Amino acid sequence: MKALITAGGRGTRLRPLTHSNNKHLLPIANKPMILYPIEHLRDAGITDIGIIVNETRSEIEGLLGDGSKYGVKITYIFQDKPLGLGHCLKISEGFLRDADRFVMYLGDNILAKGIKEFVDDFKNSSNNACMTLVDIKDRERLKSLGVAEIKDGRIVATEEKPQDPKPNHLAASGIYFFDGNVFKAFNGDGAIKPSARGELEITSGVFRYLIEHDYKVGYYNITGWWKDTGKMDDLIDANRLVLDKFDGFKNEGTISSTSEVEGDLLLGKGSVVEKSQILGPVVIGENVVIKNSRIGAYTAIGNNCVIEDSEIENSILMEGAGLTNLKNVTGSLIGFNAKINKFVSKEIKKNGGGPDVSRIIVGDDSVISLA
Ligand code: G1P
Repeated sequence: MKALITAGGRGTRLRPLTHSNNKHLLPIANKPMILYPIEHLRDAGITDIGIIVNETRSEIEGLLGDGSKYGVKITYIFQDKPLGLGHCLKISEGFLRDADRFVMYLGDNILAKGIKEFVDDFKNSSNNACMTLVDIKDRERLKSLGVAEIKDGRIVATEEKPQDPKPNHLAASGIYFFDGNVFKAFNGDGAIKPSARGELEITSGVFRYLIEHDYKVGYYNITGWWKDTGKMDDLIDANRLVLDKFDGFKNEGTISSTSEVEGDLLLGKGSVVEKSQILGPVVIGENVVIKNSRIGAYTAIGNNCVIEDSEIENSILMEGAGLTNLKNVTGSLIGFNAKINKFVSKEIKKNGGGPDVSRIIVGDDSVISLA
């Protein structure tokens, strides 16, 4: 089997971080998001992977190259306009044609258990296509997703971002399985048309076509956690969920005797922790400096960050970011090389004081100095 991963898109709901980065490269637990689908595919035995890229292709190609570093072989497929997920499939026909069956995996989807079980089943399945479904209780959330209705083990109806989700609607995750029949949806008189938002839709377009043309459309249930990391809170949640699974202690840096560590920790080479407390699970990259600080659970700190006289938890600090004199930072996303410094007089510091901050979302290269 082959696979297709989407890694284009505008990431509008993740601005300002996506002004300067392709969202698929934003880190979750210190690993670029796109590596999660690649690893899940590789673990399921699929190594021939096409990746849909847009004008930010050099960023993606810069990280992944030909894929050999990650044990896969990558073919890049350029989408010049954001014309929808159906369009991603359509332009990939040349790459996918010789694969009997394949997986399409949206590069911003991440799930606990991987997809091996589904891949193994679909290889020998009599279904022409399958969706992977998630039972989401929050009806409001369904309004921003694709949904499906099932009957007798088959999908009988689909809708994209329903205005009025029904009680029996299940959410469609961004992992889909197809055989070659899917390309019929793009050709001939009955070919699917762009939706009102100008896109060739996957759920209400491609899947609806397959159902209406009597192809066998099955589904798999996703049972562990699943996230599509389209919004800020989803990134923080995904970071927490991935760190929650992390179990271990690896110290390749230096932790001073004046520091305390509790729980799971990964501390990278050249990193130094001084007079600080760390409450895991926490991952810290290479050449990081942490001084007089408290790093709380579910925090991921990228390479070359500096944290001094601060307290942070449940947050993501991207490579090169810095924090000085900030207390109670939580649920925050600090972009690449962004620095936030609060000036605190020696007097206030001596009394253990400092400003209380709650949430910060700052884009790359920002410098915020607070007096
Ligand atoms: C896309 C699909 C939607 C699916 C979702 C899962 O939505 O169109 O059907 O439920 O991915 O991540 P988008 O994230 O592009 O809004």
